Amino acid sequence: MAANRNLHQAKSNKKDEFYTQLVDIENELRHYTEHFRGAVVYCNCDDPRVSNFFHYFAYNFRVLGLKKLITTCYKNQQMDMFSQHDAEKAIWLEYDGTENETGVPAVEDIGIHYLQGDGDFRSAECIELLKQADIVVTNPPFSLFREYVAQLIEYDKQFLVIGNKNAITYKELFPIIKDNGLWVGVTSMSRDMLFDLPEEYAQELRETKKEGSAYKVVNGVVKGRSQSMWFTNLDHKKRHEELILYKRYSPDEYPKYDNYDAINVDKTKEIPFDYDGVMGVPISFLDRHNPDQFEIVGATQRGCHDDLPDTRKYDDYWEVRQDGTKTGSSGSKTNENANLVGNDGRKNYFINSEGRIIQSAYQRIFIRRRRGA
Ligand SMILES: C[S@@+](CC[C@H](N)C(=O)[O-])C[C@H]1O[C@@H](n2cnc3c(N)ncnc32)[C@H](O)[C@@H]1O
Repeated sequence: MAANRNLHQAKSNKKDEFYTQLVDIENELRHYTEHFRGAVVYCNCDDPRVSNFFHYFAYNFRVLGLKKLITTCYKNQQMDMFSQHDAEKAIWLEYDGTENETGVPAVEDIGIHYLQGDGDFRSAECIELLKQADIVVTNPPFSLFREYVAQLIEYDKQFLVIGNKNAITYKELFPIIKDNGLWVGVTSMSRDMLFDLPEEYAQELRETKKEGSAYKVVNGVVKGRSQSMWFTNLDHKKRHEELILYKRYSPDEYPKYDNYDAINVDKTKEIPFDYDGVMGVPISFLDRHNPDQFEIVGATQRGCHDDLPDTRKYDDYWEVRQDGTKTGSSGSKTNENANLVGNDGRKNYFINSEGRIIQSAYQRIFIRRRRGA
Protein backbone atom coordinates (compact mmCIF):
# COMPACT_ATOMS: atom_id res chain seq x y z
CA MET A 1 0.00 0.00 0.00
CA ALA A 2 2.73 2.41 1.08
CA ALA A 3 4.81 1.39 -1.93
CA ASN A 4 1.83 2.06 -4.16
CA ARG A 5 1.37 5.47 -2.70
CA ASN A 6 5.01 6.32 -3.23
CA LEU A 7 4.76 5.16 -6.80
CA HIS A 8 1.71 7.26 -7.37
CA GLN A 9 3.42 10.24 -5.80
CA ALA A 10 6.51 9.79 -7.94
CA LYS A 11 4.26 9.67 -10.98
CA SER A 12 2.24 12.73 -10.13
CA ASN A 13 5.37 14.64 -9.21
CA LYS A 14 6.62 14.14 -12.73
CA LYS A 15 4.16 16.84 -13.71
CA ASP A 16 6.23 19.07 -11.48
CA GLU A 17 8.93 18.71 -14.11
CA PHE A 18 7.15 20.51 -16.92
CA TYR A 19 9.46 23.24 -18.17
CA THR A 20 8.07 26.46 -19.52
CA GLN A 21 8.80 27.40 -23.11
CA LEU A 22 10.48 30.73 -23.73
CA VAL A 23 7.81 31.74 -26.22
CA ASP A 24 5.07 31.44 -23.58
CA ILE A 25 7.08 33.53 -21.14
CA GLU A 26 7.73 36.22 -23.75
CA ASN A 27 4.09 36.32 -24.84
CA GLU A 28 2.87 36.90 -21.31
CA LEU A 29 5.65 39.04 -19.89
CA ARG A 30 5.49 41.67 -22.61
CA HIS A 31 2.25 42.96 -21.11
CA TYR A 32 3.82 43.93 -17.79
CA THR A 33 6.99 45.83 -18.66
CA GLU A 34 6.07 48.87 -16.55
CA HIS A 35 5.90 46.73 -13.41
CA PHE A 36 9.46 45.50 -13.78
CA ARG A 37 11.34 48.80 -13.93
CA GLY A 38 13.63 48.93 -10.89
CA ALA A 39 12.28 45.64 -9.56
CA VAL A 40 13.99 42.77 -7.80
CA VAL A 41 12.72 39.64 -9.54
CA TYR A 42 12.86 36.26 -7.87
CA CYS A 43 12.45 32.95 -9.71
CA ASN A 44 12.33 30.47 -6.84
CA CYS A 45 11.69 27.17 -8.63
CA ASP A 46 14.23 27.59 -11.37
CA ASP A 47 17.44 25.89 -12.14
CA PRO A 48 19.28 28.66 -14.02
CA ARG A 49 20.86 26.05 -16.27
CA VAL A 50 17.52 25.05 -17.75
CA SER A 51 14.92 27.62 -16.74
CA ASN A 52 13.64 29.89 -19.47
CA PHE A 53 12.44 32.26 -16.75
CA PHE A 54 16.05 32.80 -15.79
CA HIS A 55 17.02 33.15 -19.45
CA TYR A 56 14.23 35.62 -20.13
CA PHE A 57 15.11 37.92 -17.24
CA ALA A 58 18.86 37.64 -17.73
CA TYR A 59 18.61 38.47 -21.43
CA ASN A 60 16.11 41.28 -20.88
CA PHE A 61 17.70 42.61 -17.70
CA ARG A 62 18.56 46.00 -19.18
CA VAL A 63 15.56 46.36 -21.44
CA LEU A 64 13.28 45.79 -18.49
CA GLY A 65 15.41 47.99 -16.24
CA LEU A 66 15.58 45.35 -13.49
CA LYS A 67 17.38 46.06 -10.26
CA LYS A 68 18.25 42.48 -9.45
CA LEU A 69 17.48 38.94 -10.52
CA ILE A 70 17.56 36.17 -7.93
CA THR A 71 17.13 32.52 -8.89
CA THR A 72 17.06 29.44 -6.70
CA CYS A 73 17.19 25.88 -7.88
CA TYR A 74 15.60 23.00 -6.06
CA LYS A 75 17.66 19.90 -5.63
CA ASN A 76 15.73 16.75 -4.91
CA GLN A 77 16.98 13.22 -4.85
CA GLN A 78 15.46 11.99 -8.10
CA MET A 79 18.41 12.02 -10.40
CA ASP A 80 16.37 11.30 -13.52
CA MET A 81 14.73 14.67 -13.30
CA PHE A 82 15.50 17.40 -15.75
CA SER A 83 16.44 19.86 -13.08
CA GLN A 84 19.10 17.70 -11.50
CA HIS A 85 21.84 17.56 -14.09
CA ASP A 86 25.00 16.94 -12.17
CA ALA A 87 24.55 19.58 -9.49
CA GLU A 88 25.61 18.32 -6.10
CA LYS A 89 23.76 20.90 -4.08
CA ALA A 90 20.88 23.30 -4.49
CA ILE A 91 22.14 26.59 -5.84
CA TRP A 92 21.12 30.19 -6.07
CA LEU A 93 22.40 33.15 -7.94
CA GLU A 94 21.98 36.84 -7.87
CA TYR A 95 22.52 39.08 -10.85
CA ASP A 96 22.52 42.86 -10.72
CA GLY A 97 23.38 43.44 -14.35
CA THR A 98 26.95 44.61 -13.77
CA GLU A 99 28.93 41.43 -14.16
CA ASN A 100 28.79 41.18 -17.87
CA GLU A 101 29.31 44.11 -20.24
CA THR A 102 27.13 42.55 -22.92
CA GLY A 103 24.18 42.38 -20.57
CA VAL A 104 23.75 38.74 -21.52
CA PRO A 105 25.13 36.80 -18.60
CA ALA A 106 26.15 33.18 -18.67
CA VAL A 107 25.75 31.28 -15.43
CA GLU A 108 29.51 30.83 -15.24
CA ASP A 109 29.99 34.60 -15.55
CA ILE A 110 27.81 35.26 -12.56
CA GLY A 111 29.01 32.59 -10.23
CA ILE A 112 27.03 30.06 -8.35
CA HIS A 113 26.23 30.23 -4.63
CA TYR A 114 25.41 27.10 -2.72
CA LEU A 115 22.41 26.82 -0.45
CA GLN A 116 22.64 25.06 2.90
CA GLY A 117 19.44 23.15 2.28
CA ASP A 118 17.72 21.70 -0.76
CA GLY A 119 16.32 24.98 -2.14
CA ASP A 120 12.74 24.26 -1.15
CA PHE A 121 10.83 27.50 -1.67
CA ARG A 122 9.49 27.10 1.89
CA SER A 123 12.92 26.87 3.51
CA ALA A 124 14.14 29.68 5.76
CA GLU A 125 16.99 30.64 3.42
CA CYS A 126 14.68 30.82 0.39
CA ILE A 127 12.19 32.85 2.39
CA GLU A 128 15.00 35.30 3.20
CA LEU A 129 15.54 35.69 -0.55
CA LEU A 130 11.81 35.98 -1.09
CA LYS A 131 11.69 38.89 1.33
CA GLN A 132 14.09 40.82 -0.91
CA ALA A 133 11.92 40.33 -3.98
CA ASP A 134 9.42 42.75 -5.47
CA ILE A 135 8.00 40.34 -8.03
CA VAL A 136 8.11 36.54 -8.10
CA VAL A 137 7.81 34.95 -11.52
CA THR A 138 7.92 31.22 -12.20
CA ASN A 139 6.12 28.01 -12.91
CA PRO A 140 6.14 26.30 -9.49
CA PRO A 141 5.62 22.58 -8.85
CA PHE A 142 2.02 21.76 -9.69
CA SER A 143 1.65 19.55 -6.66
CA LEU A 144 2.54 22.37 -4.25
CA PHE A 145 0.59 25.17 -5.92
CA ARG A 146 -1.72 25.88 -2.97
CA GLU A 147 1.15 26.25 -0.55
CA TYR A 148 3.17 28.15 -3.08
CA VAL A 149 0.55 30.85 -3.61
CA ALA A 150 -0.30 30.98 0.09
CA GLN A 151 3.33 31.84 0.80
CA LEU A 152 3.36 34.62 -1.80
CA ILE A 153 0.24 36.10 -0.27
CA GLU A 154 1.62 35.74 3.26
CA TYR A 155 4.72 37.72 2.29
CA ASP A 156 2.65 40.23 0.37
CA LYS A 157 4.50 39.68 -2.91
CA GLN A 158 3.58 40.65 -6.41
CA PHE A 159 3.68 37.63 -8.67
CA LEU A 160 3.11 36.16 -12.09
CA VAL A 161 3.04 32.38 -11.99
CA ILE A 162 1.80 29.41 -13.98
CA GLY A 163 -0.67 27.02 -12.39
CA ASN A 164 -3.24 24.42 -13.27
CA LYS A 165 -6.71 25.62 -14.33
CA ASN A 166 -8.28 23.52 -11.59
CA ALA A 167 -6.58 25.80 -9.10
CA ILE A 168 -9.25 28.44 -9.80
CA THR A 169 -11.78 26.62 -7.68
CA TYR A 170 -9.40 25.48 -4.94
CA LYS A 171 -11.05 26.57 -1.75
CA GLU A 172 -7.81 28.29 -0.73
CA LEU A 173 -7.56 30.24 -3.99
CA PHE A 174 -11.04 31.06 -5.13
CA PRO A 175 -11.82 33.48 -2.27
CA ILE A 176 -8.72 35.46 -3.26
CA ILE A 177 -9.85 35.58 -6.89
CA LYS A 178 -13.32 36.60 -5.77
CA ASP A 179 -11.90 39.48 -3.72
CA ASN A 180 -9.70 40.65 -6.60
CA GLY A 181 -6.46 39.67 -4.91
CA LEU A 182 -5.44 37.46 -7.81
CA TRP A 183 -6.58 37.15 -11.43
CA VAL A 184 -5.91 35.55 -14.78
CA GLY A 185 -2.94 36.70 -16.85
CA VAL A 186 -3.21 38.04 -20.38
CA THR A 187 -2.70 34.77 -22.28
CA SER A 188 -6.12 33.20 -22.79
CA MET A 189 -6.94 30.42 -20.33
CA SER A 190 -8.21 28.33 -23.20
CA ARG A 191 -4.92 28.41 -25.04
CA ASP A 192 -3.08 25.12 -25.08
CA MET A 193 0.15 25.39 -23.11
CA LEU A 194 2.97 23.03 -24.00
CA PHE A 195 6.05 22.33 -21.90
CA ASP A 196 9.54 20.96 -22.39
CA LEU A 197 10.08 17.61 -20.70
CA PRO A 198 12.92 15.57 -19.26
CA GLU A 199 13.88 13.03 -21.93
CA GLU A 200 12.85 9.99 -19.93
CA TYR A 201 9.43 11.37 -19.20
CA ALA A 202 8.95 12.32 -22.86
CA GLN A 203 9.81 8.76 -23.79
CA GLU A 204 7.40 7.38 -21.20
CA LEU A 205 4.56 9.54 -22.52
CA ARG A 206 5.24 8.41 -26.05
CA GLU A 207 5.07 4.78 -24.99
CA THR A 208 2.07 4.96 -22.68
CA LYS A 209 -0.17 7.83 -23.80
CA LYS A 210 -1.95 8.93 -26.93
CA GLU A 211 -0.63 11.97 -28.69
CA GLY A 212 -2.91 14.97 -28.34
CA SER A 213 -4.02 14.71 -24.73
CA ALA A 214 -0.92 14.23 -22.56
CA TYR A 215 1.61 15.37 -25.12
CA LYS A 216 2.13 16.78 -28.59
CA VAL A 217 5.02 16.39 -30.97
CA VAL A 218 6.28 19.71 -32.30
CA ASN A 219 9.01 19.56 -34.95
CA GLY A 220 9.87 16.07 -33.76
CA VAL A 221 10.12 17.08 -30.09
CA VAL A 222 7.71 15.71 -27.48
CA LYS A 223 6.08 18.53 -25.49
CA GLY A 224 4.02 17.94 -22.36
CA ARG A 225 0.49 19.23 -22.43
CA SER A 226 -1.27 20.42 -19.33
CA GLN A 227 -4.28 22.53 -18.42
CA SER A 228 -2.15 25.45 -17.40
CA MET A 229 -2.64 29.17 -17.22
CA TRP A 230 -1.10 32.33 -15.77
CA PHE A 231 -2.13 33.70 -12.40
CA THR A 232 -1.06 37.14 -11.26
CA ASN A 233 -1.73 40.11 -9.02
CA LEU A 234 0.02 42.49 -11.43
CA ASP A 235 -2.43 44.75 -13.16
CA HIS A 236 -2.72 44.53 -16.93
CA LYS A 237 -4.76 46.33 -19.60
CA LYS A 238 -6.86 43.35 -20.58
CA ARG A 239 -8.64 43.23 -17.25
CA HIS A 240 -9.91 46.77 -17.79
CA GLU A 241 -11.39 46.07 -21.22
CA GLU A 242 -15.14 46.18 -21.19
CA LEU A 243 -16.96 43.09 -22.31
CA ILE A 244 -19.48 44.24 -24.93
CA LEU A 245 -22.83 42.63 -24.20
CA TYR A 246 -25.53 42.38 -26.81
CA LYS A 247 -28.09 39.88 -25.56
CA ARG A 248 -31.32 40.79 -23.82
CA TYR A 249 -32.47 38.72 -20.84
CA SER A 250 -35.41 36.35 -21.29
CA PRO A 251 -36.51 33.75 -18.72
CA ASP A 252 -36.77 31.09 -21.43
CA GLU A 253 -33.24 31.51 -22.66
CA TYR A 254 -31.70 31.97 -19.21
CA PRO A 255 -33.43 29.54 -16.80
CA LYS A 256 -32.93 29.84 -13.05
CA TYR A 257 -31.04 27.07 -11.30
CA ASP A 258 -33.02 24.67 -9.17
CA ASN A 259 -30.71 25.19 -6.21
CA TYR A 260 -29.25 28.71 -6.56
CA ASP A 261 -30.92 32.08 -6.88
CA ALA A 262 -29.15 32.71 -10.18
CA ILE A 263 -29.73 32.29 -13.91
CA ASN A 264 -27.69 30.02 -16.15
CA VAL A 265 -25.54 31.57 -18.90
CA ASP A 266 -23.78 29.01 -21.10
CA LYS A 267 -21.35 31.35 -22.85
CA THR A 268 -19.55 34.42 -21.56
CA LYS A 269 -20.40 36.40 -24.69
CA GLU A 270 -24.09 35.69 -24.06
CA ILE A 271 -24.24 37.40 -20.65
CA PRO A 272 -27.40 39.53 -20.87
CA PHE A 273 -26.80 43.27 -20.63
CA ASP A 274 -30.02 43.91 -18.73
CA TYR A 275 -30.07 41.33 -15.93
CA ASP A 276 -29.31 42.73 -12.48
CA GLY A 277 -29.32 39.50 -10.46
CA VAL A 278 -26.71 36.78 -10.07
CA MET A 279 -25.65 34.81 -13.16
CA GLY A 280 -23.83 31.48 -13.38
CA VAL A 281 -21.15 31.67 -16.10
CA PRO A 282 -18.46 29.25 -17.29
CA ILE A 283 -15.07 29.38 -15.55
CA SER A 284 -13.55 30.75 -18.76
CA PHE A 285 -15.40 33.99 -17.96
CA LEU A 286 -12.36 34.88 -15.86
CA ASP A 287 -10.45 35.48 -19.09
CA ARG A 288 -12.73 38.45 -19.75
CA HIS A 289 -13.38 39.55 -16.21
CA ASN A 290 -13.23 43.29 -15.72
CA PRO A 291 -13.67 44.06 -12.02
CA ASP A 292 -15.24 47.45 -12.84
CA GLN A 293 -17.94 45.73 -14.85
CA PHE A 294 -18.70 42.62 -12.79
CA GLU A 295 -18.52 41.45 -9.23
CA ILE A 296 -17.71 37.81 -8.50
CA VAL A 297 -20.14 36.39 -5.97
CA GLY A 298 -19.10 32.74 -5.71
CA ALA A 299 -18.59 29.46 -7.49
CA THR A 300 -20.24 26.07 -7.48
CA GLN A 301 -18.91 23.41 -5.12
CA ARG A 302 -15.85 23.24 -2.89
CA GLY A 303 -17.15 25.66 -0.30
CA CYS A 304 -16.81 28.59 -2.70
CA HIS A 305 -20.36 29.82 -2.63
CA ASP A 306 -20.76 31.37 0.80
CA ASP A 307 -22.34 34.57 -0.54
CA LEU A 308 -24.77 32.62 -2.70
CA PRO A 309 -25.83 29.56 -0.70
CA ASP A 310 -27.40 26.57 -2.40
CA THR A 311 -31.07 26.26 -1.53
CA ARG A 312 -31.70 22.56 -2.11
CA LYS A 313 -29.94 19.21 -1.61
CA TYR A 314 -30.40 16.04 -3.66
CA ASP A 315 -29.61 13.29 -1.18
CA ASP A 316 -32.92 11.53 -1.98
CA TYR A 317 -32.30 11.55 -5.76
CA TRP A 318 -30.41 8.93 -7.73
CA GLU A 319 -28.38 9.16 -10.90
CA VAL A 320 -29.66 7.65 -14.15
CA ARG A 321 -28.04 7.21 -17.56
CA GLN A 322 -29.83 8.26 -20.73
CA ASP A 323 -30.64 4.59 -21.42
CA GLY A 324 -32.60 4.50 -18.16
CA THR A 325 -30.15 2.43 -16.12
CA LYS A 326 -29.08 3.59 -12.67
CA THR A 327 -25.42 4.43 -12.17
CA GLY A 328 -25.61 3.46 -8.50
CA SER A 329 -24.70 7.00 -7.37
CA SER A 330 -26.86 9.04 -5.06
CA GLY A 331 -28.00 12.56 -5.91
CA SER A 332 -25.77 13.90 -3.14
CA LYS A 333 -23.10 13.81 -5.82
CA THR A 334 -24.71 16.82 -7.46
CA ASN A 335 -25.22 18.86 -4.29
CA GLU A 336 -23.74 22.35 -4.77
CA ASN A 337 -23.44 21.91 -8.53
CA ALA A 338 -25.50 24.39 -10.55
CA ASN A 339 -28.52 22.20 -11.33
CA LEU A 340 -31.28 22.85 -13.83
CA VAL A 341 -34.70 21.21 -13.91
CA GLY A 342 -35.25 18.85 -16.86
CA ASN A 343 -33.43 16.37 -19.05
CA ASP A 344 -31.43 17.55 -22.05
CA GLY A 345 -31.36 14.02 -23.51
CA ARG A 346 -27.55 13.93 -23.43
CA LYS A 347 -26.10 13.83 -19.92
CA ASN A 348 -26.91 11.59 -16.98
CA TYR A 349 -29.75 12.96 -14.88
CA PHE A 350 -30.93 12.75 -11.27
CA ILE A 351 -34.46 11.74 -10.34
CA ASN A 352 -36.38 11.43 -7.07
CA SER A 353 -39.27 9.18 -6.04
CA GLU A 354 -41.77 11.76 -7.32
CA GLY A 355 -40.23 11.68 -10.78
CA ARG A 356 -38.64 15.12 -10.45
CA ILE A 357 -35.63 15.34 -12.77
CA ILE A 358 -32.64 17.65 -12.62
CA GLN A 359 -29.28 17.86 -14.36
CA SER A 360 -26.09 19.59 -13.50
CA ALA A 361 -24.67 22.39 -15.64
CA TYR A 362 -20.89 22.51 -15.93
CA GLN A 363 -18.90 24.20 -13.21
CA ARG A 364 -19.99 27.80 -12.81
CA ILE A 365 -18.77 31.07 -11.39
CA PHE A 366 -21.45 33.36 -10.04
CA ILE A 367 -21.24 36.99 -11.05
CA ARG A 368 -23.34 40.15 -10.92
CA ARG A 369 -23.12 43.28 -13.03
CA ARG A 370 -21.86 46.26 -11.09
CA ARG A 371 -24.36 49.07 -10.76
CA GLY A 372 -24.04 51.47 -13.63
CA ALA A 373 -21.81 49.10 -15.62
C1 LIG B 1 6.79 22.75 -13.19
S1 LIG B 1 8.57 22.76 -12.96
C2 LIG B 1 8.97 24.29 -13.69
C3 LIG B 1 10.41 24.61 -13.73
C4 LIG B 1 10.71 26.04 -14.15
N1 LIG B 1 10.19 26.98 -13.18
C5 LIG B 1 10.10 26.30 -15.50
O1 LIG B 1 9.06 26.95 -15.57
O2 LIG B 1 10.66 25.85 -16.50
C6 LIG B 1 8.68 23.04 -11.22
C7 LIG B 1 10.08 23.11 -10.69
O3 LIG B 1 10.02 23.24 -9.29
C8 LIG B 1 11.00 22.42 -8.70
N2 LIG B 1 10.55 22.09 -7.34
C9 LIG B 1 9.88 20.98 -6.94
N3 LIG B 1 9.63 21.06 -5.62
C10 LIG B 1 10.14 22.24 -5.20
C11 LIG B 1 10.21 22.88 -3.94
N4 LIG B 1 9.67 22.32 -2.86
N5 LIG B 1 10.81 24.09 -3.86
C12 LIG B 1 11.33 24.67 -4.96
N6 LIG B 1 11.30 24.11 -6.18
C13 LIG B 1 10.70 22.91 -6.30
C14 LIG B 1 11.11 21.23 -9.61
O4 LIG B 1 12.35 20.60 -9.47
C15 LIG B 1 10.91 21.88 -10.97
O5 LIG B 1 12.13 22.29 -11.50
